[in-house]
Amino acid sequence: MANIFAFFVFGLSWILFAQFLSALLIVWVILRVYSHHLRSSNLVRRSTLLAELGHSHNTKRIVGFFHPYCNAGGGGERVLWTAIAAIQRTDPDVVSVVYSGDTEASKESIISKVKARFAITLDPVLLHFVFLQSRWLVEDSTWPRFTLLGQSIGSMYLAWESMTKLIPDLFIDTMGYAFTFHIVAQLGQIPIGAYVHYPTISTDMLARVKSRKQWHTNAGHISSSATLSRLKLIYYRLFMYYYVLSLRTASFVMVNSSWTKNHVDSILQYNDPLIDAIHMIPPLVGLKLFTSQNAPAAARIVYPPCDTREMSSFSLMPRQRIILSVAQFRPEKDHQAQLNAFHRLIELHPEYIQNSHNRVKLILVGGSRNDSDAKRLSELQKVAKDLGIDPYVEFVVNASYPTVLSWLSKASVGLSTMVDEHFGINIVEFMAAGVIPVAHASGGPLQDIIVPFNGERTGFHARTLDEFAGALHTVLSLPTEEELAMRWRARAWAVQRFSEEEFERGWNQSGWRTWALGSTSSR
Ligand SMILES: *[C@@H]1O[C@H](CO)[C@@H](O)[C@H](O)[C@H]1NC(C)=O
Ligand SMILES: *[C@@H]1O[C@H](CO)[C@@H](O)[C@H](O)[C@H]1NC(C)=O
Ligand SMILES: *[C@@H]1O[C@H](CO)[C@@H](O)[C@H](O)[C@H]1NC(C)=O
Ligand SMILES: *[C@@H]1O[C@H](CO)[C@@H](O)[C@H](O)[C@H]1NC(C)=O
Repeated sequence: MANIFAFFVFGLSWILFAQFLSALLIVWVILRVYSHHLRSSNLVRRSTLLAELGHSHNTKRIVGFFHPYCNAGGGGERVLWTAIAAIQRTDPDVVSVVYSGDTEASKESIISKVKARFAITLDPVLLHFVFLQSRWLVEDSTWPRFTLLGQSIGSMYLAWESMTKLIPDLFIDTMGYAFTFHIVAQLGQIPIGAYVHYPTISTDMLARVKSRKQWHTNAGHISSSATLSRLKLIYYRLFMYYYVLSLRTASFVMVNSSWTKNHVDSILQYNDPLIDAIHMIPPLVGLKLFTSQNAPAAARIVYPPCDTREMSSFSLMPRQRIILSVAQFRPEKDHQAQLNAFHRLIELHPEYIQNSHNRVKLILVGGSRNDSDAKRLSELQKVAKDLGIDPYVEFVVNASYPTVLSWLSKASVGLSTMVDEHFGINIVEFMAAGVIPVAHASGGPLQDIIVPFNGERTGFHARTLDEFAGALHTVLSLPTEEELAMRWRARAWAVQRFSEEEFERGWNQSGWRTWALGSTSSR
């Protein structure tokens, strides 16, 4: 009896296994046939496009940039257009194609907006747009719940739409839609690159969910809430697992800062043994079998170029005794710490306010977006009054760009107190303007911006109130020669490191050229 039963179970599991294998095989065959069909019909689309652009021979290579919001005019778009302009300059045999969801815009209107917004000139002959109809699938509002998952699946659909319209020789995602890579790899069978501004999900985020789960459990909350947070943790772990599989599909990965590199590197090396073990079991193993893993173990930092042209023309000396802060009146900027540091400075060095012609002033320039900011602003003004420093502090609200520039041309010291700022464009601007920065010792200002140039200081870091006051005093009392040298170094460093040339060099080193030339989709 037992024998028959064992035989039965054994037989059944073989049948199931065989069925699973054949299902997998069928899916694989369908994918291959569909991909083959797409790629052969792409040859016609490709020649038509090149002919339309006026390229008589089919010798051009096509690099596709996946940037559904290419007309938004933000920092991510500056990166996109600077990269394309550089490629147009150095590689006239490459046609750049942008996959965009801006269906209401035209090629001409986008090109002229880029010119007006970023002062970047694009050659229309080497640029083409593939307009996508289904961008709504990646919009926040489409996915009020399970936003991460919804947008990721939406982006895969968008990638499919892209591949049916045109398969490039190299696909580069510049907006952070890593889930598109599976579709592009399977259907287009082309190499993939990524420029990551911000990881979709980070190991930090996972750790936070994990600790919240324990907190819930420990606090003895009703079991449903504990179950809920456990489910949430599983959701995040699965999501992370697939995100890692996606990123590793790329052949090269660039990131915009040290902060992002730290996160992306820990994602590229992330390993979840439990979830991985689950993916050894059919049918989940199918998901693993359909991904290719190419990525390097570490991402390359390619800093976005900053526009420092105007600031870098200001004269370095003489400067007024102005401590300048340029930051929106948001809570994380921590303006209160700036007031406290200034208060401590004149507590320790009353001479800075005694002499009226040599008086030090703190100027806080920043935007106030709405009622919350306005309320914070009036609280800050009250704090200044309470500290008795209000005669030496000036708030400049909603200043125009020329006004900001004029403060940058006059100030001595640039102050920033935000903790863990990812980057800190305001500090790059201080330095380019020749204003010596004093910033919190964390994030971008610590790792990327205020770093030695030729082994010498370009500014100061501080953590505590006393360190801030001390650094401010140091800058204000620098000997003239040393002061001039430091202003010069700060400018030289900021202008060089965050220049377009440096950006171009980073792209060169990413190896995109080899991948674009080595691919075989057009042959
Ligand atoms: C990188 O991108 C993130 C997200 O858009 C942004 O907050 C950060 O400032 C960027 N860093 C640089 C160096 O531009
Ligand atoms: C600053 O601009 C915001 C938004 O444009 C506006 O609501 C606010 O009233 C302005 N504040 C001042 C002081 O000008
Ligand atoms: C002001 O804007 C911030 C950021 O968008 C938001 O968090 C805050 O709730 C807004 N406050 C008001 C009163 O609208
Ligand atoms: C990048 O590579 C191209 C092609 O080899 C070259 O012309 C260009 O000068 C390089 N740019 C930089 C900044 O190294």
